Amino acid sequence: MSRPIIALDFPHLAAVQEFLKSFPAEESLFVKVGMELFYSEGPTVVRFLKDQGHDVFLDLKLHDIPNTVESAMKCLAALGVSLTNVHAAGGIEMMTAAKRGLTAGTPEGQAVPKLIAVTQLTSTSEAQMQNDQLISVSLAKSVTHYAKCAAKAGLDGVVCSAHEVRQIKEATNEDFICLTPGIRPKSAAVGDQKRVMTPSEARKIGSDYIVVGRPITKAKKPYEAYLAIKNEWNGETVDE
Ligand code: C5P
Repeated sequence: MSRPIIALDFPHLAAVQEFLKSFPAEESLFVKVGMELFYSEGPTVVRFLKDQGHDVFLDLKLHDIPNTVESAMKCLAALGVSLTNVHAAGGIEMMTAAKRGLTAGTPEGQAVPKLIAVTQLTSTSEAQMQNDQLISVSLAKSVTHYAKCAAKAGLDGVVCSAHEVRQIKEATNEDFICLTPGIRPKSAAVGDQKRVMTPSEARKIGSDYIVVGRPITKAKKPYEAYLAIKNEWNGETVDE
């Protein structure tokens, strides 16, 4: 069964440890460590999660000159994460350098982490993109263009809205990973996410990975919420 990725949006390791107490010790999870947790705890938190048998998506969205990103990726690869990312806006040269750094930093015998790109942030509206970034095409066109650049740089996929999966796969190829946040089971609060999809809709549309945060982390019974989402994501329930 494929696992939804749980966004560990917590400020400290102690809060992560408390949250994980809701899960059976033998349950291997796929978790996302973002900026907040990584900037407060550093590599220690990734090592802790790996030691507990979990897989890690390190969501740091690197964006700097190619040489700096390449060196940073070398360090991150040594942590044994499964998936990490950069901003496509950094350009093809930067993304190629990121991939090179990841490959160089991966210890002998381990798999190179998959590398995906953020296209336009899902918090960016078309008007904001046009005014702030002076990009005059539509948001959809910009997203597709960045996805094609990521594919050209040899990346494995992109982070995108579930609503963008079809256009991205058509512009690249069916195997190009589309990882989609903004997922809500029907009963859950939408929070600040604007364009949401259910796990079942995301599966039907071709998302390869879903990221789910608050519907699990803020649930009264996180393990039950996780299992329900996991089952729905794997097509084990009908959502109509
Ligand atoms: O709590 P929720 O399910 O909304 O969490 C979604 C997670 O995915 C958060 O960690 C958020 O930062 C991340 N994310 C997102 N939209 C993106 C990229 C990442 O919601 N475009």
